[in-house]
Amino acid sequence: LLSAFPINRSCHATKPNMLNVHLVPHTHDDVGWLKTVDQYYYGDRNDIQHAGVQYILDSVVDQLLKNPDRRFIYVETAFFYRWWKQQSSSMQQTVKQLVNEGRLEFVNGGWCMSDEATTHYSAVIDQMTMGLRFLNETFGPCGRPRVAWHIDPFGHAREHASMFAQMGYDGFFFGRLDYQDRARRMVKREQELLWRASNSLTPPMADLFTGILPNGYNPPEGFCWDQSCDDPPIRDDPDLEDYNVDDVVKRFLTIANSQAMVYKTNHIIMTMGSDFQYENANLWYKNLDKLIRYVNGQQANGSKVNVLYSTPSCYLQELHRANLTWALKTDDFFPYADDAHDFWTGYFTSRPALKRYERISNSNLQTCNQLEILGGPVSRKGPFGDGESQTMKKAMAVAQHHDAVSGTEKQHVANDYARRLANGWQHCQVFQVLRGITKHFSIKKRKKNQCSFGSAAIFSVNVYNPLARPVAWPVRLPVNGTSYVVSDAEGKSVDCQVCPYMHDIVHLYFLLKTEYLCVHVLQFIRVTFDPDTGLLSSLSNLETKQTIKLTQNFYWYNASDGNNKESNQPSGAYIFRPNSSTPFIISKTAKTESIQEVRQWFAPWVSQVVRLYGDSRALELEWTVGPLPIDDDLGKEVITRLDTSIKTSEYFYTDSNGREMLQRKKDFRPTWNLSQSEPIAGNYYPINSRAFIKDDVDQLTVVTDRSQGGGSLQNGSLEIMLHRRLLYDDVRGVGEPLNESSGVFPEGLVVRGCLRLSLDRPPSAADAHRPLAQQVVLQPLLTFTDGDLHPNTQLEFSGLQAALPPAVHLLTLTQWDKDSVLLRLEHQFQSQESKVNSHPVTVNLQVRHSITHRAHLTFTTLIEFGCFIQFYNI
Ligand SMILES: *[C@@H]1O[C@H](CO)[C@@H](O)[C@H](O)[C@H]1NC(C)=O
Ligand SMILES: *[C@@H]1O[C@H](CO)[C@@H](O)[C@H](O)[C@H]1NC(C)=O
Ligand SMILES: *[C@@H]1O[C@H](CO)[C@@H](O)[C@H](O)[C@H]1NC(C)=O
Ligand SMILES: *[C@@H]1O[C@H](CO)[C@@H](O)[C@H](O)[C@H]1NC(C)=O
Ligand SMILES: *[C@@H]1O[C@H](CO)[C@@H](O)[C@H](O)[C@H]1NC(C)=O
Ligand SMILES: *[C@@H]1O[C@H](CO)[C@@H](O)[C@H](O)[C@H]1NC(C)=O
Ligand SMILES: *[C@@H]1O[C@H](CO)[C@@H](O)[C@H](O)[C@H]1NC(C)=O
Ligand SMILES: *[C@@H]1O[C@H](CO)[C@@H](O)[C@H](O)[C@H]1NC(C)=O
Ligand SMILES: *[C@@H]1O[C@H](CO)[C@@H](O)[C@H](O)[C@H]1NC(C)=O
Ligand SMILES: [Zn+2]
Repeated sequence: LLSAFPINRSCHATKPNMLNVHLVPHTHDDVGWLKTVDQYYYGDRNDIQHAGVQYILDSVVDQLLKNPDRRFIYVETAFFYRWWKQQSSSMQQTVKQLVNEGRLEFVNGGWCMSDEATTHYSAVIDQMTMGLRFLNETFGPCGRPRVAWHIDPFGHAREHASMFAQMGYDGFFFGRLDYQDRARRMVKREQELLWRASNSLTPPMADLFTGILPNGYNPPEGFCWDQSCDDPPIRDDPDLEDYNVDDVVKRFLTIANSQAMVYKTNHIIMTMGSDFQYENANLWYKNLDKLIRYVNGQQANGSKVNVLYSTPSCYLQELHRANLTWALKTDDFFPYADDAHDFWTGYFTSRPALKRYERISNSNLQTCNQLEILGGPVSRKGPFGDGESQTMKKAMAVAQHHDAVSGTEKQHVANDYARRLANGWQHCQVFQVLRGITKHFSIKKRKKNQCSFGSAAIFSVNVYNPLARPVAWPVRLPVNGTSYVVSDAEGKSVDCQVCPYMHDIVHLYFLLKTEYLCVHVLQFIRVTFDPDTGLLSSLSNLETKQTIKLTQNFYWYNASDGNNKESNQPSGAYIFRPNSSTPFIISKTAKTESIQEVRQWFAPWVSQVVRLYGDSRALELEWTVGPLPIDDDLGKEVITRLDTSIKTSEYFYTDSNGREMLQRKKDFRPTWNLSQSEPIAGNYYPINSRAFIKDDVDQLTVVTDRSQGGGSLQNGSLEIMLHRRLLYDDVRGVGEPLNESSGVFPEGLVVRGCLRLSLDRPPSAADAHRPLAQQVVLQPLLTFTDGDLHPNTQLEFSGLQAALPPAVHLLTLTQWDKDSVLLRLEHQFQSQESKVNSHPVTVNLQVRHSITHRAHLTFTTLIEFGCFIQFYNI
């Protein structure tokens, strides 16, 4: 533990010569799951699940006031904020008092408890900022959470621990880890450890004390006193029937003593609460008061157990005082299995359209934030003077929840998350400012017929690049003509092509460069196709003169239906459990067609377009999958697999929340001897933005456009799960099969996405894939205007006087309050990953006056194209 440990004076005294049991009253309030976040807040739709957060907070505050010994922790600021706004100022004063006295303690404190497998670090940082800022501004230093608390997420990412350490948390507690890992840690008393969460940051910068809770996040068996539980209350009147104090005390001492056997110190923690508990907090507190009184009463008779109301930070303080050395961990906690055939690796891919919508919303939010600054005061009309981006910020913060972007919520709740994001897009009308400050392309139709964007034969495309360096980015627009002239801001004509796309849609394609680099269009990549099968057969990088064999095809796993002798676990929203380890090939050959790009058809529900752009170092595979057939009454989990000549020796690499890369090995865990019981699902890992395979000479990197699950099950191969549709519920609570359809796709959801492949020499591969991944995460935003622009319109603008150095990424630029902006810059390379870029960089900052936009034109529309068309239907 860090030496600068703050002393919390509100903690109850403990007894050094006894076993101290820290009872932590808590509630776990999902920011949407079976009900929407607002239904949970109000206690609406109790027919779905009995849960009402407003009543929980009402009741807890009331009960805390009744006995100053009582403690409570609260976690999800999205809910607390809703409740706070509705309180009278005298109630707010009362609550401040409780916080100041340490009786009500905030832990974690983000807007939500984020998912760890499918979130991108930039969005996690944003949602933590939103929650922590509210707590700081409302409660000051006493409201600052000291402990990170991720009791429910389904596996734990190293990058999350790194972020928490860098945010200044003193420790981290969670509930779920692999059952084999837990068993081993219990024997070795290693359920409390030091997580060294970065390869790059000098210890202890990313070191975080990490505690694994004894019983998930539930109370010990027999001690649940919520209105939703059936355990017997403490019946302590000897004159009445069923007096049970002796029995309760005996059972409690047994549990406490056995728990102490698997932890290192004479302090143990018990989580007294669970999902949406404490709606009638009197039940819990009345019994906990008695439990403490009767168990401690035994001390007079020689008992060595001392029970107290406590909080995670008070417990952590005692561990710190114990001055022990903890086991060190440097890898992560993925994948998570709660039994031999129950790997929670399906949700890495579940709801692929929502996952993409969340990712592109993050990109647009960052653009919206930047434009609010660059556009000057006129663009900051929001209620806090911090712009209209608030709506989008909140929607994105809610979307990071571990039942949101994870895809493990009910369908109506998924729709609600998507609706919130769509509403956020609407509110970023600051995009109007684009007209004043972006680069314009004017497009004229050669023939006089209708344009898809409206009636105008001329339209303008406004482009904003949120990255702090120039990019080259292919643009494809659906149009309804055959011939166009594209001219840039200086009126110079830009090469473009019109080519037919699917379903009578025609695409206009041109290469967008946000700065003039005066480069010739170069061919960097070559691919070959097998003439007999129509499949990709090789990939070359012409610059580095390397070629690998590369076959790509699509397959599906047959889901388990849950009827077999090993286990009754079916595949579902959380869990991936294929019926057999050999996936079924969808088609051995692809029907292909080649018109400037290669189209491949594998089945009516699987197709792909292979694109190679001049000037681009990545090969683009645009896949379209769905509606997945369900005539087998079971469902399918579709993957694409890249089989190469690279000698991987069973190793592959995946990113952690889009940031540092982690090494993975088939059937292997770095910290324990794995007994592998699911050869496919047990080898799947989250891929947030990229994965790669390599040997000494070749590295193939795949950059994804959303979070997906994947693995390397054979040498030289990398598979990525693209879409899944399942007709059984996997009995982890959601109570619905993952069977997505929509108004536009009543037969089942069709999802489209893009994989970008780059082939490089391993020592310099990071120089290519880091920027590529950033470009996909923060992509240029296009907006459109009918007709030609007003002659006085400023056609080009840059918010920077010079591009940032390649190693420096502009992570955040957003208005903080009326007078200040928040700027986050980060070094985006890991140590030793790049000869050129893995070095310290110095940046001189000089801020120039923000500009006001010059022209005020009508805003038309905001659309995504080509690879980025969303099939998410709201
Ligand atoms: C916390 O809030 C105070 C008062 O508003 C402010 O001065 C301080 O900078 C804030 N701290 C952080 C870390 O934002
Ligand atoms: C302590 O033990 C004595 C003798 O067994 C018993 O009479 C007494 O009730 C016990 N006290 C408590 C607090 O349990
Ligand atoms: C903590 O333990 C170390 C030895 O492991 C010892 O040198 C140090 O004095 C101890 N610190 C405290 C405050 O007891
Ligand atoms: C495309 O243009 C043709 C001829 O101008 C028109 O009949 C048709 O409706 C247009 N299609 C779309 C999708 O706009
Ligand atoms: C798929 O698995 C189910 C049982 O989970 C089995 O009944 C069915 O025959 C399998 N289908 C194929 C094509 O193997
Ligand atoms: C796969 O399906 C077959 C046929 O229904 C069944 O016998 C077998 O147990 C299933 N295996 C798994 C792992 O579900
Ligand atoms: C993969 O390569 C490693 C090392 O070269 C070898 O030991 C292993 O047997 C290979 N695995 C398979 C499935 O061929
Ligand atoms: C794994 O098992 C091997 C041999 O049984 C043993 O030498 C090694 O220490 C074990 N590793 C761990 C991390 O338990
Ligand atoms: C799955 O969705 C389809 C509609 O796309 C519906 O017809 C079917 O009944 C659903 N099946 C289940 C098990 O939910
Ligand atoms: Zn939860």
